[in-house]
Amino acid sequence: MQLRPNIYAVGAIDWDRRLFDELIPLPDGTSYNAYLVKGSEKIALLDTVDPTKTDVLIDNLVKAGADRIDYIVAHHAEQDHSGGIPDILMLYPDAKVVTNPKCKGMLIDLLQISEDKFITVDDGQILSLGDKTLQFIYIPWVHWPETMGTYLKEDKIFFPCDFFGSHLATSGLFVEDEPVVYESAKRYYAEIMMPFRTAIKNNLEKIKDLQIDIIASSHGPVYDNPKFIIDAYKDWVSDNVKNEVVLPYISMHDSTRKMVEHFVDALIERGITVKQFNLSVTDIGKLAILLVDAATIVLGSPTVLTAAHPKVAYAAILANALRPKTKFASIIGSYGWGGRMVEQITSLISNLKVEILEPVIAKGYPKDNDFTALENLADKILTKHKELGIA
Ligand code: FEO
Repeated sequence: MQLRPNIYAVGAIDWDRRLFDELIPLPDGTSYNAYLVKGSEKIALLDTVDPTKTDVLIDNLVKAGADRIDYIVAHHAEQDHSGGIPDILMLYPDAKVVTNPKCKGMLIDLLQISEDKFITVDDGQILSLGDKTLQFIYIPWVHWPETMGTYLKEDKIFFPCDFFGSHLATSGLFVEDEPVVYESAKRYYAEIMMPFRTAIKNNLEKIKDLQIDIIASSHGPVYDNPKFIIDAYKDWVSDNVKNEVVLPYISMHDSTRKMVEHFVDALIERGITVKQFNLSVTDIGKLAILLVDAATIVLGSPTVLTAAHPKVAYAAILANALRPKTKFASIIGSYGWGGRMVEQITSLISNLKVEILEPVIAKGYPKDNDFTALENLADKILTKHKELGIA
């Protein structure tokens, strides 16, 4: 498929992939986007594909008439984009891998590409293809330290690799349904980019003066309305939070469930939006996406062998790793005869810059005093949200 004259999308759609890094759910599959840019003098391939899809890339290169490749631009060393480089180098032995020094080192480590295959470029450096000019822009920590993008000056296309991407398999080259892509891109941001919010702010600032007509990321459809995704990112990385409580929970014998239900009613009565979900039936990506802008997280858990239910502990560990901008946290749940669940969960979310609000833990089935404590917790959350000016 052609983005513009002499610029081809030659990557692969992975309709059936359901897990990335053996961790991240992909409900809508993904794509590994690679682009062929034919200049009047030189031909460049921007990224490759996951090694499982190299045959698709090669087929697309043949269809695009790539009888020669001079440069393979490697924006990022992660194998879903770099994994095809060794095969492409075998097919096009005269090609050079163009990347920055940090990425070069990682490609040598990960893929054992030989040193003499590389040309390294500095931040801002230009590479002429004749009538098309590539400018390399370092955009570190979206989401690895070595990531860079390419700006194609004549066509005003920015190729930012993972940055602005979405795990979404579609047959269309360009975004056709912005709300659908918004959800996928937000999920992608939550799971991949959110820990690097500060770096992303810096990178948004760095590219703000580029004249961009098209953003062609390495996952998901291409943005021919770049403002849509840039504005979404500005919102996600901002310090703004919403009047929302995210409430992932597990219940084994209904004590915690009863508490969750009472607590959710109390929050709704106070005008607070609640996102309640049972961790035993909901994919963990839901937690990630809801943490992008919720002001408060409350974890609900029974006590299992003196600690939180392992699925709740897993959710806490993930939230801690994703480092959302959440402001407040608490814990509700139950126990039979003892345990240290509150201390354990609190230690698991130590990376979060949150104020811990007084947890509510019931002995056995919740009683009147527990329900009152839950209402008090809802009051406290409302007060805190009012202090932030969001309730
Ligand atoms: Fe899509 Fe970080 O690789």
